[in-house]
Amino acid sequence: MAKNVVVVGAQWGDEGKGKIVDWLTEKVAGVVRFNGGHNAGHTLVINGKKTILRLIPSGIMHATSVCYLGNGVVVSPEAFFREVDELIAVGVPNVEKRLRVSGNAALIMPYHVALDHAREAAAGDKKIGTTGRGIGPAYEDKIARRTVRVADLFDADRFAERVREVMKYHNFVLEKYLGAEPLDPEAVITQMLSYADRLRPMVCDVSAALHAEMDAGKQFLFEGAQGSMLDIDHGTYPYVTSSNTVAGAVCAGAGVGPNKINYVLGITKAYCTRVGEGPFPTELFDADGEWLANKGNEFGAVTGRPRRCGWFDGAALRRAVQINGLQGLAIMKLDVLDGMKTVKLGVGYTYKGEKLDLMPCGADHLAGCEPIYEEFPGWTESTFGVTKWEDLPESARAYLTRLSEVAGCPIAVVSTGPDREHTILHFNPFAD
Ligand code: GDP
Ligand code: IMO
Ligand code: MG
Repeated sequence: MAKNVVVVGAQWGDEGKGKIVDWLTEKVAGVVRFNGGHNAGHTLVINGKKTILRLIPSGIMHATSVCYLGNGVVVSPEAFFREVDELIAVGVPNVEKRLRVSGNAALIMPYHVALDHAREAAAGDKKIGTTGRGIGPAYEDKIARRTVRVADLFDADRFAERVREVMKYHNFVLEKYLGAEPLDPEAVITQMLSYADRLRPMVCDVSAALHAEMDAGKQFLFEGAQGSMLDIDHGTYPYVTSSNTVAGAVCAGAGVGPNKINYVLGITKAYCTRVGEGPFPTELFDADGEWLANKGNEFGAVTGRPRRCGWFDGAALRRAVQINGLQGLAIMKLDVLDGMKTVKLGVGYTYKGEKLDLMPCGADHLAGCEPIYEEFPGWTESTFGVTKWEDLPESARAYLTRLSEVAGCPIAVVSTGPDREHTILHFNPFAD
């Protein structure tokens, strides 16, 4: 039976979704993005060669895979074509022929980027620490029903009229409220329309296209961006992104019903990281934190910003298991813990004297939580590149087993290095 699998981040993003999506792509006809935009940065390493994808699904490196941007994605044509050109330049075959973009996807316009920057600057120490890609303002326009969508690019007069109208509002906010420079509407219109001809052949009804393929027995991967704790509803609000990042967002963001989803795989690191502002109870400020940052090379794929590092947070993972309906975990970057004397595992919090085993929603509540840890002896052996569970050191296996128990979700995959090949398959998500 054909199966469709959803891959989502179970922490604060950068868990290693790109690696797992690329690795699983050989099993599917296509890969579908359903949320976020080029705020994502998904790193693939194939035979030692690194590729960073931002907007384009992580299936593109497989020569026959078709890659879809669903209606729930916010699309910057400028960022999209920059990435397409990078892929063409390194010899990825038929990139443009294998891309499908929903006409209903909201466009990220230059004024969204200007607003993102101006708002962050004005917020001072209350800033979110966004990626500065215009994601929040683009989703706001969508919800406010004033956005221009991908399909609008193909009626130039109507597009220009809509943009002139909406820019009266945005320029007013930029100039009068945020004290930033307004943008020239005619320059914005000319720039955006310049992408129309190249984009047109890729634009389609993604929902209908997916249904046609599924009816023909094809299976698909849905690739989440960001992570569960950055979800606009369930994350550490307001320190979140502006889309739903949980598995349920596949349905609204790609136009498929929940009955088309057969398996939800949650990606988590064997420890924890976060980029940008907001509470992070298991964050480390000591030598262990430095170890994770250095050995894990924890710098943002998109912005290059250093990622904050800490111990694995079981209360957060338990929340992620619930809000996504996770059926299996891919536990990434185990090798980063190699050589640590002691490894700690967050199993819950204390909040004003009360014990919690589930991460509370909302930043203020979480900021008052103190983690409760269990300690594990480390291991001196290298796990780098190990491909069999039996070949892992016993203490690493004990740590992973307890992690899965605390999270309340079985292990499907363990990752022991950045390359496709550095992977232990415990349970195949596509198995019947
Ligand atoms: P994504 O946004 O979830 O796709 O994750 P990123 O690509 O932003 O960050 C994950 C980083 O960890 C990338 O640099 C990957 O190459 C790297 N990575 C993934 N899995 C492993 C692993 O098992 N071990 C090590 N050492 N690095 C890994
Ligand atoms: P991937 O898909 C990690 C974070 C930003 C900021 C907050 C809001 O690579 O896991 P935004 O620009 O979305 O308005 O920023 O969300 N953020 C991410 N953190 N990984 C990501 O994507 C992220 N995308 C956004 O750092 O804290
Ligand atoms: Mg990333």
